Amino acid sequence: MSLFRTKDIESMLIASRNDGLRKVLGPVDLVMMGIGAIIGTGIFVLTGTGALTAGPALTLSFVIAALACGFAALCYAEFATAIPVSGSIYTYSYATLGEIVAWMIGWDLLLEYGLATSAVSVGWSGYFQSLVAGFGLRLPTALTAAPGAVPGVDTLLNLPAMLIMLAITWVVSYGVRESARVNNIMVVIKIAVVVLFIAVGVWHVKPMNWQPYAPFGFAGIVNAAALVFFAFIGFDAVTSAAEEVRNPRRDLPIGIIGSLAVCTVLYVTVAAIMTGIVPFPKFEGVDHPVSLALQYAGENWVAGFVDLGAILGMTTVILVMTYGQTRILFAMSRDGLLPAKLSQVHPVHATPFHATWAVGIVFSLIAGLVPLAVLAELINIGTLSAFALISVAVVVLRKTRPDLPRTFRCPGVPVVPVLSVAFCLFLMAHLQALTWIAFLAWLALGLAVYFLYARRNAVLHR
Ligand code: ALA
Repeated sequence: MSLFRTKDIESMLIASRNDGLRKVLGPVDLVMMGIGAIIGTGIFVLTGTGALTAGPALTLSFVIAALACGFAALCYAEFATAIPVSGSIYTYSYATLGEIVAWMIGWDLLLEYGLATSAVSVGWSGYFQSLVAGFGLRLPTALTAAPGAVPGVDTLLNLPAMLIMLAITWVVSYGVRESARVNNIMVVIKIAVVVLFIAVGVWHVKPMNWQPYAPFGFAGIVNAAALVFFAFIGFDAVTSAAEEVRNPRRDLPIGIIGSLAVCTVLYVTVAAIMTGIVPFPKFEGVDHPVSLALQYAGENWVAGFVDLGAILGMTTVILVMTYGQTRILFAMSRDGLLPAKLSQVHPVHATPFHATWAVGIVFSLIAGLVPLAVLAELINIGTLSAFALISVAVVVLRKTRPDLPRTFRCPGVPVVPVLSVAFCLFLMAHLQALTWIAFLAWLALGLAVYFLYARRNAVLHR
C-alpha cells in the first residue's frame, strides 16, 4: 500500500510558508500569467488546420474545447484554494490519490510543459525568421531548423528556437517579480493585437463563407476540438505559482477562471471572423492563418502587426510554461522524488535556480534538434489526462477532507467533475493512435524511474 501513501496537507502548508520563494504576485499578475500561457501557437498557427478539419464550425470546436477546460478549471480552482502549495496537480494528487499517482502525473506534466515550451519555441522561430526576412536578413539555412525538419533541405539546428528558450530561462531564473513584469507587458500587447484583428477583420466578413457551416459533420468538429484544445492549455500553470502569491486563497481562482474566460471569448470571435473572411479550403498548408486572413482582406499593415503580436504571444507562452515546469520540479524535488538540487532556492534571486537552468538547457536542446511539428497532439493527451485526474481528485478530497477550508468550491460536485472526465476522455479518444503509443511509452518510462529512484528517495519513505 506504500505506493499510495499520501502527504499530510497541514505539513505541506507549513513548508510552503518557509520555502524561500517571494510572495509578490497579485490577482492581475495571475490573470496575465494565465493569458500569457494560453494565447500562442494554438490560435496563431493551429487554427488553420482546425478550419480545414471542421470548416467554419471551428467556432463550435472552440466551444467544446473550452467546455472541457472550463470544467477542469473549476476543479483546479477548488484545489488551489484548499491546498495553495507549489506543484499544481502533482501536489494535489500527492495529498489525495497517493504517491504513485502523484509521481505519474508530475512525470506527465514534465511532458506537457516541457514539450510545450520546445514546440512553441519552434513556432516562435518560424515567425521570427519570416519577420526578419522582411528586413532582408536571413540565417544560414543550416541554422534555421532541426535536422530532418524540412524534407530535402540539409539543416543542422534551429538556432533561434534554442536562443529564445535560453533567453526566457534567464528571465525566469532572474526573479519572479521580473518575470511577471516582462510577461504583463507582452500580454497587454498580444491582447491588443488580437482585439485589433477583431476590430479590423469584422468589416471584411462575408457570411457566405460560413456556408456550409459544418462540411465535415460532427466528426470534423470534434477532431478539430481535440486539436485546438492546445490553444487553451496554460491556465493550469497559474496554480503552480501558489507559493509566490500574496493571497492565494482569493487570487488563484480569479487567475484560473478569469484568464480562461477572456481567452474563450477572444478565440471564438477570432475563429468566426477568420472563417468569415477566408473560404476555409484556402488555409491548406498555411502556418500563419490569422495574418493570412488579413492579407486576404488587403489589410497588409495590420497583418504585420498580427505577426508581431504572435511572436510576443508565443514568447509569453514559453515564459509561463517554463516557469510552471520549474515549480513542479521544485515541488517534486522537495518531496525527494527528484534530486535535492532541483529544489534549492537561489539566495539572491529567490528562484529555484538549478531547476530553471536544467529545464532551460534540456528543452532548448530539444527545441533546436528535434523536429517538433506534430507534437501538439502529444502535449494535448498529457494535459487531458491531467485534467481528467484532477476532476477525480476533487471528489476524493471532498470525501477524505471535508473539513479543509476552501474559499472556492467547484459547483455541482460530482456532476461537474464527471462531465469534465467525460469530455477529456472523449477528446482523448479522438487523438491519433501514434499519439497514444508515444504517451504510453512515456508513462512506462516514468514508472521505471519511479521504482528505480523516486520511491526509495521519497521524503515519505525516509
Ligand atoms: N495554449 C498555448 C498555445 O497555444 C500552449 O501556444
